[in-house]
Amino acid sequence: MVDLTTEYLGLKLKSPLVVSSTPLSQSIATIRRMEDCGAAAVVLSSLFEEQLILESGALDKDLTRGTESFAESLDYLPKFEDYGQGHEAYLEHLRKAKAAVSIPILASLNGATAGGWVRFAKELEQAGADALELNTYSLATDPLISGADVEKGLVKLVCQVKASVGIPVAVKLSPFYTSVANLASQLDAVGADGLVLFNRFYQPDFDIENLDVVPSLHFSTSEELLLRLHWVAILFSHVKADLAITGGIHTAEDVLKTMMAGSQVAMLASALHVQGIDHLASLREQVVRWMTEHEYESIRQMRGSLSRRSVPDTSPFERGNYIKTLSSYTMEKPTTLQ
Ligand SMILES: Cc1cc2nc3c(=O)[nH]c(=O)nc-3n(C[C@H](O)[C@H](O)[C@H](O)COP(=O)(O)O)c2cc1C
Repeated sequence: MVDLTTEYLGLKLKSPLVVSSTPLSQSIATIRRMEDCGAAAVVLSSLFEEQLILESGALDKDLTRGTESFAESLDYLPKFEDYGQGHEAYLEHLRKAKAAVSIPILASLNGATAGGWVRFAKELEQAGADALELNTYSLATDPLISGADVEKGLVKLVCQVKASVGIPVAVKLSPFYTSVANLASQLDAVGADGLVLFNRFYQPDFDIENLDVVPSLHFSTSEELLLRLHWVAILFSHVKADLAITGGIHTAEDVLKTMMAGSQVAMLASALHVQGIDHLASLREQVVRWMTEHEYESIRQMRGSLSRRSVPDTSPFERGNYIKTLSSYTMEKPTTLQ
């Protein structure tokens, strides 16, 4: 009998299969279905900083902060009505989700700057969230703000959230930091309980007929997993925080790779949008079959087995991989490069 159990943010989970933050969890019936199909935990879709500031009536004050990105994101506020719900409705949904299923429910706060809005984290805890995922999506477009300043702001935000709740806090990060390993250590030092790698960036597309720049959302493919595997494999055993992968997990093989890199959980969004919630059950079955065939007894046994710490040759994680990949291509296929 294969043991699929894992621990994430101090929560004991029946398997590593976790539903990433997505609007699919806005229906209680769907959350029940997720549990029935084998989800070990569900992260709810996000409450946004901009939404909370507006609701709290502190808009004028916060606008004077002069954060360009904040003012700019207000243009999108009407879309919140379509996307989600007000914070009271969110709390009510969280309570209902907790009552409906026995798996852990994680609330998600989505913001980029420290400020008064962070107090809503406490309300999420009081409404029963088992843990909090803090999505720190932001784009550093101001040439006057250095990378160090961006990181300082992020660390300050995490400190604020950690100080306002007693439940574990995971931080969902972007891959676009100068030194991901250094930032991970900084977040570790201020007590982040988990690091979720990585946010996907939704670049707007160009509509050349109407001369417009339009939002575009494409679901991921397994190719996007490689970046996450790489960084979790590098960070494994170098940070105290639990590691989680979101982005590009579609198949049972993807789930297994995620574990071998050193992640505690495999978070899925696109795969469930594309294949349906039942896909969770099929993934679980295939993971168990593969582990049985390969004589693995538990997830614990395979975790980190392909991390940088565990493999004898660490060059694939370094510049060596880059050189090898390019040079092997030119040697094998010289004619295609003419
Ligand atoms: C339609 C949709 C809505 C999403 N909404 C949120 C959100 O509210 N908060 C959040 O942190 N992530 C959100 N995400 C990102 C996912 O949680 C996930 O991190 C990302 O899609 C990568 O995983 P995937 O490759 O399995 O899709 C959303 C993704 C999709 C597809």
